[in-house]
Amino acid sequence: MVNPSRAVIAGNHEAREFPMSMANFETIKRIAMEWTGISLSNHKRNMIYGRLSRRLRALGLSDFSQYCSLLETAPASEKSEFINSITTNLTAFFREIHHFEHLASTVIPNLMRTNAASRKVRVWSAGCSTGEEPYSIAMVFKSFSALKGWDVKILATDLDSNVVAKGASAIYSVDRVEGVPDKYRQCFKRDKSTNNIHIKDSVRELIRFRQLNLLHEWPMRGAFDIIFCRNVVIYFDLPTQKKLFNRYADILTDKGHLFIGHSENLYKVTDRFASIGRTIYQKAY
Ligand SMILES: C[S@@+](CC[C@H](N)C(=O)[O-])C[C@H]1O[C@@H](n2cnc3c(N)ncnc32)[C@H](O)[C@@H]1O
Repeated sequence: MVNPSRAVIAGNHEAREFPMSMANFETIKRIAMEWTGISLSNHKRNMIYGRLSRRLRALGLSDFSQYCSLLETAPASEKSEFINSITTNLTAFFREIHHFEHLASTVIPNLMRTNAASRKVRVWSAGCSTGEEPYSIAMVFKSFSALKGWDVKILATDLDSNVVAKGASAIYSVDRVEGVPDKYRQCFKRDKSTNNIHIKDSVRELIRFRQLNLLHEWPMRGAFDIIFCRNVVIYFDLPTQKKLFNRYADILTDKGHLFIGHSENLYKVTDRFASIGRTIYQKAY
């Protein structure tokens, strides 16, 4: 059993369960950047130590030099364990509720006019974590009875394979739905035997969950009307953000909408979007 107090002695790797030198941390930073785009600053060292120590324990390794050598040879299974360990997956249903209010009050009614001929809407939740974001989007779409018969699809992607699997399961503990507005509560049902909630199939069927690294090539061909990419790029450096938002502009329809996280902005990142509200943008060109 690990003594947790030993594992958090900042900067003193000798006192830790698994020695981690600064050179080891530099290797981890480089690999994290290469594989995920996540830029780890030095003050994340303790957090990364805590998260990766579990991998060393599971693999029976005794220090981070061994673990770094293993990462350099990158067996596929450990690559995905590493990625899943370093991602931060904090999310919630209807997080940043003004986005969902704007979706319901403005974006969807506009799409019902502009897309009336095709009766088709495409949405991408990029960096969807455990699925609360795409399900919240789906619940808003479902609340529009006039969209019955429309072809509405939400693509939900994340780099972390564990969170994608959790989202696809559509099962959440009951405390996760505490903040869901009353009008959307009909979108899920409670299983009394487990006290979990299950998202109803009618909502679930709007969403496809896929594992996808945003830095890699995207297999999707068609254009999206709306992209949610919230609280993802805060972990990326500026060149990575510039490239990503340029690609979002390319894959959005004319005047397509982009929703970003509360602490993010596009100032000095790209001029291809016009701000139309708090962390809400529309493609400019
Ligand atoms: C803090 S969560 C945000 C979840 C949700 N969008 C929200 O705002 O509630 C950030 C997510 O971005 C994902 N992520 C980080 N780097 C990524 C990358 N290169 N490609 C795809 N997803 C990535 C993480 O796995 C994590 O689930």
